[in-house]
Amino acid sequence: MGDGGDPGDMDGGGGERWSAVAAGWAELWGSFAAPVWPSLLTAAQVGRGTRVLDVGCGTGELIGHLVRAGVVAAGVDPAPAMARTAGERNPGATVRDGDVEHLPFEDGTFDAVLAVNALQFADDVDDALAEVARVLVPGGRVGIASWAEGARNDLDVVERAVAEAYEEDVPPDGPLRAAGGLESALVGAGFDVVGSGIADVPWSAPDDDRLVRGVLLGEDEGTTAELAPVVVAAASPFRVPGGGYRLANAFRWAVAVAP
Ligand SMILES: C[S@@+](CC[C@H](N)C(=O)[O-])C[C@H]1O[C@@H](n2cnc3c(N)ncnc32)[C@H](O)[C@@H]1O
Repeated sequence: MGDGGDPGDMDGGGGERWSAVAAGWAELWGSFAAPVWPSLLTAAQVGRGTRVLDVGCGTGELIGHLVRAGVVAAGVDPAPAMARTAGERNPGATVRDGDVEHLPFEDGTFDAVLAVNALQFADDVDDALAEVARVLVPGGRVGIASWAEGARNDLDVVERAVAEAYEEDVPPDGPLRAAGGLESALVGAGFDVVGSGIADVPWSAPDDDRLVRGVLLGEDEGTTAELAPVVVAAASPFRVPGGGYRLANAFRWAVAVAP
């Protein structure tokens, strides 16, 4: 399991790896972080006419939400298939290829920058936040949301079972996951934290097929078939009456003002 807590060990920032799973991400995971969006947008003072960049925008679900709210939305993602999908779905938004440490926008372009389930993939979080500060107007706001510590996430139970099947060690939680981790990173980069919290972000799969494909996103067909029984057995505590699964998880979020 990657530090991101994302399915299929998608812990690297390689654009090609994320590109290969763009369709699966949109189908199985695309909007699952939506419960954290309202807290982020309120604390980041995002509203009609605000200029907002979504960093690591994936397949563009948050961008769509912003566009519908009258926000002047843009997105950026290093995975070409992710950025292409986000752009095609949101013709009213500017979506470019790029990573958080090299944002393809001029200084002072945005009133707010958001990063949902993405900052943990930066090679260097300090460099990433310095680059975010560069594209913000003075006093602009950054909003970050990402996985809380593994003990709060049912997904980690399933991913631990997968790691054990391979006799692999489960990596420890990264620093951004713990209580106060996002705030420390922001303060260290010179931002002034104005809000933070934790949100439930359950993930549901209506059947075994989507459970297995969701958890093992990014694995090849043979590995997926081999590990399917492990995933189904590990997820049995999370079955819901009537069929399917509901995994309870949590995201921490923090919003801060640029230096
Ligand atoms: C877990 S997905 C989340 C996508 C979207 N934010 C969402 O909430 O559905 C992580 C995204 O971060 C992108 N990513 C990976 N490394 C990155 C980096 N260094 N800078 C910006 N985005 C990155 C991936 O390509 C992928 O689209």
